[in-house]
Amino acid sequence: MVGRMEKAIFLVLILEIFFVATATTEETCKSEREIEEQCGPHTYKTVKPMLDYFRQIRNELELSEFKEKQLSELNSNLMDKYHEIVKLHEKVIKEASLIDQYKNQIQSKENELQLYKEKVDKLESDIELQKNTINGLTPNSKLFEHFDKCKEKLVVESKNLEICEVQLKKLNSSVIEKDENISGYNAKIQNVTENLKKIEVQFDESQTKLKNKEKDQQVCQGEVDKLNEALQNSIPSSCVPFGQYPGYREIKVLGSGIFSVLCDSQLAGPGWIVIQQRVGGNESFDRDWATYRKGFGSFDKDFFLGLENIYRLTNSQRYELYMHLVFLNGTSKYARYDDFKISDESQGYVLRSLGEFKGSVNVDAMRYSQNRKFTTLDRDNDVASSNCAVAYKSGWWHGDCFNSNFNALYGIDFFWYRKFNPLKVAKMLIRPNKLI
Ligand SMILES: *[C@@H]1O[C@H](CO)[C@@H](O)[C@H](O)[C@H]1NC(C)=O
Ligand SMILES: *[C@@H]1O[C@H](CO)[C@@H](O)[C@H](O)[C@H]1NC(C)=O
Ligand SMILES: *[C@@H]1O[C@H](CO)[C@@H](O)[C@H](O)[C@H]1NC(C)=O
Ligand SMILES: *[C@@H]1O[C@H](CO)[C@@H](O)[C@H](O)[C@H]1NC(C)=O
Ligand SMILES: *[C@@H]1O[C@H](CO)[C@@H](O)[C@H](O)[C@H]1NC(C)=O
Repeated sequence: MVGRMEKAIFLVLILEIFFVATATTEETCKSEREIEEQCGPHTYKTVKPMLDYFRQIRNELELSEFKEKQLSELNSNLMDKYHEIVKLHEKVIKEASLIDQYKNQIQSKENELQLYKEKVDKLESDIELQKNTINGLTPNSKLFEHFDKCKEKLVVESKNLEICEVQLKKLNSSVIEKDENISGYNAKIQNVTENLKKIEVQFDESQTKLKNKEKDQQVCQGEVDKLNEALQNSIPSSCVPFGQYPGYREIKVLGSGIFSVLCDSQLAGPGWIVIQQRVGGNESFDRDWATYRKGFGSFDKDFFLGLENIYRLTNSQRYELYMHLVFLNGTSKYARYDDFKISDESQGYVLRSLGEFKGSVNVDAMRYSQNRKFTTLDRDNDVASSNCAVAYKSGWWHGDCFNSNFNALYGIDFFWYRKFNPLKVAKMLIRPNKLI
């Protein structure tokens, strides 16, 4: 016990020293200096190594205690840490599995991403392609010009379009109007069709009536034919029946058929056929045989009826001849023969007969021509050395020419008996002589 006491006292002393010695350096130094001052330089110098030693031990002691404490703390810490680590480990395992899951997810996402990437690449290449195409399309100045022209055209076209629209509207309205008109016409057509049907019915009725009428007409025609025949038969053979109605008439004679004549009722009573006329016309009488045969001229001026018709008439019955003449001084005379007849063509239309002469003229000048054939410029039947028709430019019953020639040229050769009695008008008329 005592020892312990002593030790404890000692220890306290040491501890005190220790505490002083182990105070902070300044304190230490201060304390040391205090101690040195208190203890004096001699004391201090002897005690100092021991103090240093205590100090060192104390430090080490403190350090080991501290360390022990630290160690236990560390231990408990370590334990904690261990538990923590265990926990962490569990956590880590959990996390690891989670991480696996995530990893899988990430993998699948990555795959998707890859796909997307591929798609994106594809799109990018497409875009690149488009870009190239677009670059290829980069407009140059020509294109711009073209574009401008197009624009102008477009303006013109749009104007045209406007015009077109207006026209279209007009057309439309006219089409509508036409439609209306068409329906109007349709109504009319229907009406017309109905009317047509009515008319058809009427037509049928008319047709049957017409057929009946046709029968009637046939009967009628028969009557008309009979009448016509009678009329034909009633056409006269001279101007006698037209005595009160002179002028241009038709007569009929055997061999010549029906032909037109000029009838006269003024010069010598009714019923005369004018066979020759000179009234100052300019008709040429210098004609060939065929023309004299057929006749020529016009009834209102100078004319010759025609040898064939004269032949047919004068041979159908007995005819008288009336020769009318007007001298240049205006005096009218006549010569009249009661049996006028000429032969047929084969005998040269010979002036076969004149009959008995009567007249106001002083000479029977026509007698010279009796029994003379007719002579024309192309048929010389006269007794002269040359052709009298040619010499006197006229067809006539020439002998050694004539005493009177009603067909002669107006002038010195147109006379009644020699050149002393020149004429301006001459006519020859015939009429059946049984009336006399
Ligand atoms: C024509 O006119 C009719 C009636 O007014 C209308 O319905 C139609 O749209 C017109 N058409 C045009 C091309 O204008
Ligand atoms: C429609 O008919 C009327 C009278 O009949 C006529 O004046 C008009 O011109 C017609 N319109 C057309 C487009 O034919
Ligand atoms: C039909 O025709 C008749 C006879 O021609 C006429 O009187 C009538 O007005 C017409 N009707 C129409 C709708 O045209
Ligand atoms: C007769 O005169 C008319 C006109 O006066 C003339 O046309 C015609 O040719 C003449 N005829 C002859 C035959 O000279
Ligand atoms: C007219 O002339 C004819 C023939 O020359 C003659 O016979 C007649 O006496 C004349 N008449 C008159 C009135 O001079």
